[in-house]
Amino acid sequence: MKRWTVIAALIAGAVGASSHAIAQPDATEIERGAYLVHASDCEVCHTKPGGVPFAGGRAFRLPGIGTIYSTNLTPDAKTGIGAFSEAEFSAAVRKGVSRGWKHLYPVMPYTSYAYLSEKDSNDILAWLKTLKPQVATIPANSVNFPFNIRLAMIGWNLLYRPSPGPLNDTSRSADWNRGRWLVEGPGHCAECHSPRNKLFAKSASQSYAGANANGWMAYNISSDPDSGIGAWSDDDLAAYFKTGHADGHGTAAGPMAEVVSYGLRHLTDSDRKAMVVYLRSLSQRKTSSIMQRMNPDALREASVPQNNGTRIFNSACVGCHLQDGTGRQVDFAALWGARTVAQPDGHNLVRVILHGSKLDTPVGRVVMPQVGDEYTDRDIADVANYVIAHFGNRAGHVTSSDVQTAISEPE
Ligand code: HEC
Ligand code: HEC
Ligand code: HEC
Repeated sequence: MKRWTVIAALIAGAVGASSHAIAQPDATEIERGAYLVHASDCEVCHTKPGGVPFAGGRAFRLPGIGTIYSTNLTPDAKTGIGAFSEAEFSAAVRKGVSRGWKHLYPVMPYTSYAYLSEKDSNDILAWLKTLKPQVATIPANSVNFPFNIRLAMIGWNLLYRPSPGPLNDTSRSADWNRGRWLVEGPGHCAECHSPRNKLFAKSASQSYAGANANGWMAYNISSDPDSGIGAWSDDDLAAYFKTGHADGHGTAAGPMAEVVSYGLRHLTDSDRKAMVVYLRSLSQRKTSSIMQRMNPDALREASVPQNNGTRIFNSACVGCHLQDGTGRQVDFAALWGARTVAQPDGHNLVRVILHGSKLDTPVGRVVMPQVGDEYTDRDIADVANYVIAHFGNRAGHVTSSDVQTAISEPE
């Protein structure tokens, strides 16, 4: 019997109460919960920019559906999860049905967390209950018809909620099975990297072929060598997950920097390796995001055009990124070989320039600052096109109106 159970039983006995004792989680379970919270990135979504960790309030704008805010996961009894029982919490996290039959929107990735066990969910709850309770009022969701009817989610769940199937495929290695669980379950990689239909359901036929996730392009991570990650070595992938950077592939920015900072870097080496084993087995999906790589030697020799874009790169970027893209002082600023500098539409590139990016690494936080107000939309488009031409060896076609679109999105 666990220590707390014994104490609770003693108290219950002493006061002669007939109520049965509730088992209290022990330290191992709480620690296990902490690990799962990292593996599932709960903090990323349940924290608003600049807000108290886990106190909720981050906005998710879903095209055609509306704006949905994340909730308070600290143990405040009224506004957080303080009063949730294990069963209620498990139903919310693993099935998308919260307390009082509140049917959650699938932006809360319960369709992936269906891979978690009851025990996993109990341990997560046990860890969350060790946090300091925060009273937090979350803005009301503004959701368009018919999605504003939460009960519509019952129909959605009937159509789209997956049943994870057998959790152990005995024809595969233990690493593959562990990797599949981490990637498809807590890691919820497909939530960003798989395209969705109009009803927000993930496409199975185009799984991991890349998609727009909260404004950013989550690239194709299928095993296709040109449009996916088939050409990355196992070590490149493991390094990218551990540090956010892999030589010759650039550095995770935006939402992927969050996934690394809050999640992947906290996992064990063996878990990251298992994920690599599983990712290698994903079907190849060919998309238009073909990769074009320039190495630093070629970049040093390349003749640099003189235009507005070059001028801005030389004043605002070269100090950290250098002309050959190897990065000054930290590898994290190495741009050469990155997909973000080789996509002609400059989608993520524009967002990195506008918003900057930050990444927590084994050597501390590295930050790319956002550009100052002195630059016009035209300037930002010009410097983006210069970066694509120089580092990606392609004609970029970023326009001022692309920059305006990016500015109008939430961060
Ligand atoms: C991709 C973003 C995202 C991630 C990752 C995420 N959540 Fe959520 N979660 C949300 C949003 C948004 C809502 C609100 C959904 C709604 O209003 O229907 C929510 C709702 C919830 C609720 C319902 C709370 C209530 O008051 O009804 C619980 C419980 C919850 N999340 C727990 C978790 C846990 C535990 C994790 C990690 C294992 C997690 N979430 C990870 C976005 C996320
Ligand atoms: C919240 C959305 C989100 C989630 C969840 C997510 N990713 Fe990403 N991922 C992105 C974005 C956005 C990028 C592009 C980053 C950039 O521009 O630097 C990316 C980039 C990557 C890349 C680099 C691809 C390339 O060609 O440069 C890999 C590999 C990757 N993700 C793997 C994963 C894995 C594995 C998981 C699950 C553990 C995961 N991602 C979860 C959004 C996400
Ligand atoms: C103060 C140093 C600094 C300056 C100035 C700077 N950057 Fe960065 N940049 C970084 C660091 C550090 C990173 C890695 C952080 C991250 O990805 O989260 C980065 C990341 C990037 C990335 C993402 C790389 C990838 O592989 O996806 C791009 C693209 C980028 N910078 C372009 C630029 C451009 C263009 C400018 C000028 C407008 C600029 N940077 C100015 C330091 C800087």
